[in-house]
Amino acid sequence: MPPVSKPEVVVRAARPDDSAMCGKICYEAFSRINAAHGFPCDFPGPEATTGLLSMMFSSPGYYCVVAEVGGRVVGSNGLDERSVIAGVGPITVDPGAQNLGVGGKLMQAVMDRANERRSAGLRLVQAAFHNRSLSLYTGLGFDVREPLSCVQGRPMERSVPGCAVRAAQSADLEACNVLSRRVHGFDRGVELAQAVDRKTAIVVERGGCVTGYATTLAFSGHATAETNLDLQALIASAESFAGPGILVPSRNSALLRWCLAHGLRVVQPMTLMSIGLYNEPAGAWLPSVLF
Ligand SMILES: CC(C)(COP(=O)(O)OP(=O)(O)OC[C@H]1O[C@@H](n2cnc3c(N)ncnc32)[C@H](O)[C@@H]1OP(=O)(O)O)[C@@H](O)C(=O)NCCC(=O)NCCS
Repeated sequence: MPPVSKPEVVVRAARPDDSAMCGKICYEAFSRINAAHGFPCDFPGPEATTGLLSMMFSSPGYYCVVAEVGGRVVGSNGLDERSVIAGVGPITVDPGAQNLGVGGKLMQAVMDRANERRSAGLRLVQAAFHNRSLSLYTGLGFDVREPLSCVQGRPMERSVPGCAVRAAQSADLEACNVLSRRVHGFDRGVELAQAVDRKTAIVVERGGCVTGYATTLAFSGHATAETNLDLQALIASAESFAGPGILVPSRNSALLRWCLAHGLRVVQPMTLMSIGLYNEPAGAWLPSVLF
């Protein structure tokens, strides 16, 4: 077979007016790859991806790029820069322009940016069934850190004895950030403060002390806690999980077993990958779809 010639790709900073085109590409790219493997799309429709990218392309705290071939936008990528660890994604390439090197250029652009800003590390979550993204990230230096199970459903029990779950307030930020530094070695204080402002963040208390928090119990949120019991209380308190589900580290068998025994179902396997600083968390945690 003759070698496929790779097109010239120009990567530039994303602008808010790119969000409609990039949102359409993002929805099509995810719905095609997921459908090809028999999974539902991560997003309900192109309005959702356009809304997400419109927010990311215009908010401080994110660095976003688009790729153009022959002057036409064919893909985009984002970098969440709100903590010392940066989160990559969503990266998507127009299905008609995939496997031609565009994704590699979009990844390199955010990795260069993270290097310039001296980020301690980069992390991302990929769909475990997706050979191409696994190969791309591994080739660029990312290591597999944690197998994840995306789980969805309505928890059968709505509370855990001894644990009190309530809305997080600004006064909880310090305790949550101290907890995150203890478990992960860094905090995600900016993200958490934004979640408190949006009124999606919750905390769990045992014995009058904050022992865990979640920015939101959803695909887009993360949770950090002292023990599995605290995470169970947070999970049990949710009516439902926005998006495909919450991400449970599969090696935390006790927590995953508890989820299964309490009515939750596995939607799809995913993988947390990282490059740069990574320490094995010293506590219980749920990553977001970024990290
Ligand atoms: C994932 C995605 C962004 C990658 O973009 P892309 O432009 O198709 O990827 P590239 O062509 O730059 O790179 C793919 C690499 O994987 C390699 N590859 C693909 N399938 C492979 C396989 N089965 N085994 C080994 N390597 C493989 C390619 O050879 C290429 O490597 P090379 O550049 O060294 O030759 C794109 O395919 C996409 O949008 N997918 C759907 C949405 C998605 O899953 N996004 C990722 C979310 S985590």
